[in-house]
Amino acid sequence: MGRVLKFPKNFLWGCSTSAYQVEGGIEKSDWSKFADAGIACDHYHRYEEDFDLLKQLYQNAYRFSIEWSRIEPQEGKFNQEEIRHYQKVVLALKKRNILPFVVLYHFSLPLWFQKRGGWLDPDSEKYFKRYCQKVLEALGSEVNYWITINEPMVYVANSYLKAKWPPLKKNIFEAKKALRNLIKAHKVAYELIHASNREAKIGISKNVACFSPYANKLINRILVFLADYSWNNYFLTRIKGYQDFVGVNYYFYNRIKFCFRSLFAFRNFPENFYCNTKSGKFSDIGWRIEPEGIYCAIKNVSYFKKPIYITENGLADKEDKLRKEFIKQHLFWVHKAIEDGMDVLGYFYWSLMDNFEWEKGFEPRFGLFEINYKTLERKIRPSAFYYAKICKNNALIID
Ligand code: FCB
Repeated sequence: MGRVLKFPKNFLWGCSTSAYQVEGGIEKSDWSKFADAGIACDHYHRYEEDFDLLKQLYQNAYRFSIEWSRIEPQEGKFNQEEIRHYQKVVLALKKRNILPFVVLYHFSLPLWFQKRGGWLDPDSEKYFKRYCQKVLEALGSEVNYWITINEPMVYVANSYLKAKWPPLKKNIFEAKKALRNLIKAHKVAYELIHASNREAKIGISKNVACFSPYANKLINRILVFLADYSWNNYFLTRIKGYQDFVGVNYYFYNRIKFCFRSLFAFRNFPENFYCNTKSGKFSDIGWRIEPEGIYCAIKNVSYFKKPIYITENGLADKEDKLRKEFIKQHLFWVHKAIEDGMDVLGYFYWSLMDNFEWEKGFEPRFGLFEINYKTLERKIRPSAFYYAKICKNNALIID
């Protein structure tokens, strides 16, 4: 028997999904026009079955997002049936004693909103507020944990700097404007939710990368400082005082080395900051696996002196060869962060099931369950049982 690493009492164990990636049947979003996810995993109709599996895997929390384009398919017209759907989803979780973490905006936007200019529209924050108000009226009495925005920097980088996601822009001034409006939108939603529920806990999910200098050269350290400031801290410092916790999505570890590309950092942000070394282990989609980086990401945000939830962490691994070790090693470092005094209260694996991975489509397989996209059958992967054991015991065993 190896060393038992106990997690704090009441630690949350769960996993994350997002509406556009799993629900299916979303027709009025900007993504439906750009890359249609079709029926996806049909989670929209199979959530009860999926939550039974979640329960079977001993999870006590679930992070999911509400699809704005379902609730408000046309400007100012709210769909009561869709609102009721999410009420049923929340009740289905509570019935199973699974704590809901609700994300209000996870990348996909109503088409009408995007047509008006999306996050560049000077009124964007008002539209967002009105939508949040509706969601709050329906779910406010049942939900205590709210995430206003998922990964604002990832969204802005892909949508306004790299032209990879709708609205396919490459314009640094627009990127800054979108960020400013997202900051306003978060603050407005934060105040709105707290006005109706002082006990609510509200934050964002922030993609926090670990940047470290490749060889301890001054120029590399300067780049690390710049990358940390712009990618990791910019948004969070601007919403200081407007968050009750920090949600950390950890995927990326970057050894930063100055190279010619660094001079064009903002053309392809943040990748151009560095020239990566090729060694190490990589996921199916080439993301470097570096478990220690989760410690560095947690440390990075502990400066805000707020509780921390790991709201996403996972890997694309179709054959399920690396996932068990991935979970084990990452949780080792999460535990180490807790031992060192950092206030981490929960961990959500990305993702409950294989799903639509944005511009990469259905090929990457991040799921604890495998989805057969022909039959929509769910099959629990072996690593999911390993994760379930940790959740059940609230402890990790290191051999
Ligand atoms: C994160 C996103 C999530 C998913 C994972 C793999 O950046 O929040 O939707 O795509 O990456």
